[in-house]
Amino acid sequence: MKVTVVGAGAVGASCAEYIAIKNFASEVVILDIKEGFAEGKAMDLMQTASLNGFDTKITGITNDYSKTANSDVCVITSGIPRKPGMTREELIGINAGIVKMVSSNLLEHSPNTILIIVSNPMDTMAYLVHKTTGIAKNRIIGMGGALDSARFKYRLAEALEAPIYDINGMVIGGHSDKGMIPLTRLATRNSVPVTEFLSEDRLEKVAADTKVGGATLTGLLGTSAWYAPGAAVSGMVQAIACDTHKMFPVSTLLEGEYDLTDISIGVPVILGKNGIERIVKIKLTDAEKSKMQESAAAVKKTNGLLEL
Ligand code: LAC
Repeated sequence: MKVTVVGAGAVGASCAEYIAIKNFASEVVILDIKEGFAEGKAMDLMQTASLNGFDTKITGITNDYSKTANSDVCVITSGIPRKPGMTREELIGINAGIVKMVSSNLLEHSPNTILIIVSNPMDTMAYLVHKTTGIAKNRIIGMGGALDSARFKYRLAEALEAPIYDINGMVIGGHSDKGMIPLTRLATRNSVPVTEFLSEDRLEKVAADTKVGGATLTGLLGTSAWYAPGAAVSGMVQAIACDTHKMFPVSTLLEGEYDLTDISIGVPVILGKNGIERIVKIKLTDAEKSKMQESAAAVKKTNGLLEL
């Protein structure tokens, strides 16, 4: 399995690091436009191989897409990150041009690759890739829900004073501060609904803290987060590489599912060797359905800013 990560910034480097540490890929290529930057990150990471015990070969390249040829999965993290006070949507102007160019360059050298989009505003960037590349929808996967769900579980564990590995929960909808839908009704602690343990008010606070998870970190760090985004991507790549059929919420093109069409937004899917093997349709309550429609309307508004 050959994986390319475009962008050697903090998110891209974390993706490469976690993919390597999990030791399922033979090769990870990191590509960046800044001269020598990806080479430096790759060399630093390779010098952790004997310490961390992996044998994934990591190489770095400056803007030469021929070295990414025949990648099975390509992760696009390029573009500018959020600064404190910015929404993900405000990045659209610069990032749309970058994501369009990067996806086209990648497909030129790896025509059968699966693309994972991380750049923000992610749902709109995934939609842009659908519109501009024309490749099959199972091969375009937006990473947002896996990260947001990890943040949801962190907040639930905090509220329950429980270990995080006791918690299960999922966030669907748009990957934006307002658009995320943490499914508190379905979250569990060791299969017991969390609604048994937490009041409605406390659960509302958990949901609110989850939704601003990225913004909270941007405020603390001065730029957007990287460890959890990198770990979320690596889990998705692993599910594809090992054909595990694990369920993840991801941004995918909907064609009637969840009463939505012509939009890429977060819903549960099964990931396997073909990328998105299928969309999982879960029964939502009327309140959840209306949140989904609201979230979709906001994503569509951002999509409307694209020059397609
Ligand atoms: C975040 C970015 C990756 O939520 O969107 O941290």
